[in-house]
Amino acid sequence: MSIVDELDIQKLPTHIAIIMDGNGRWAKKQGKLRVFGHKNGVKAVREAVESAADLGIKYLTLYAFSTENWNRPKHEINALMKLFVSTINKETETLLKNNIRLSAIGNLSSLPTKAYKELKETMERTANNTRMQLNLALSYSSRWELTEAMKSIAEKVQKHELEPDSIDEGLLSRHLNTADMPDPELLIRTSGEYRISNFLLWQIAYAELYFTDKLWPDFEKEDLYRAIYAYQNRERRFGKTSEQINTG
Ligand code: IPE
Ligand code: IPE
Ligand code: MG
Repeated sequence: MSIVDELDIQKLPTHIAIIMDGNGRWAKKQGKLRVFGHKNGVKAVREAVESAADLGIKYLTLYAFSTENWNRPKHEINALMKLFVSTINKETETLLKNNIRLSAIGNLSSLPTKAYKELKETMERTANNTRMQLNLALSYSSRWELTEAMKSIAEKVQKHELEPDSIDEGLLSRHLNTADMPDPELLIRTSGEYRISNFLLWQIAYAELYFTDKLWPDFEKEDLYRAIYAYQNRERRFGKTSEQINTG
């Protein structure tokens, strides 16, 4: 029996974000190079996308490459960029067939030209798809994103297009790369690390956090269901008391 049968379809998170971690350790455990782990991580991406779309999740954001990951050895970065290009290329038809829209957040102009072009092309081709939005965080970090938002707001103030008094949470949210999405209700991190690593700091203010020891290439559909099951059994109080939640 699968835990999927225990899920309340009426109470699904609208937006799930995943920090896909542990590819390198997965490869090392079997005496292979780190890149082998990244290649096998693609299978887990496919599983997560397929199961999220089948369940009816509307937004799935995957942390694929952080700003800090640019500090990795050059050959690993090159292998990852190549893998992005070939995977996006291979999967475009599947995205189209399954009515999934591809989007991306991050400093996309810092990506190699080929990766940027491939990404942009698939984003454009899938732009009208409506079943689920698959959002890749590429060359992304939350502090970078917030800094860019501040710059853009400051410029508008300087040009008198915006009054400092009209700056509120909504306005800041609309200046983030995630402006067109609701905040994630559930954040999953694999590989047994208990940190956020500069991911969606603003957007996860009230997300439920779920950590699993599974290394990313081993992450299966059942693991996603387990995370959603855990989410559905949390009491989300948003600062209120338990009594308020249960009588309201
Ligand atoms: C996650 O796996 C993938 C990326 C960060 C690109 P890692 O490459 O971080 O694997 P570990 O954490 O070293 O095992
Ligand atoms: C976070 O994983 C970034 C991605 C999953 C893309 P890292 O492996 O880079 O994070 P740290 O270095 O362990 O915090
Ligand atoms: Mg890691």
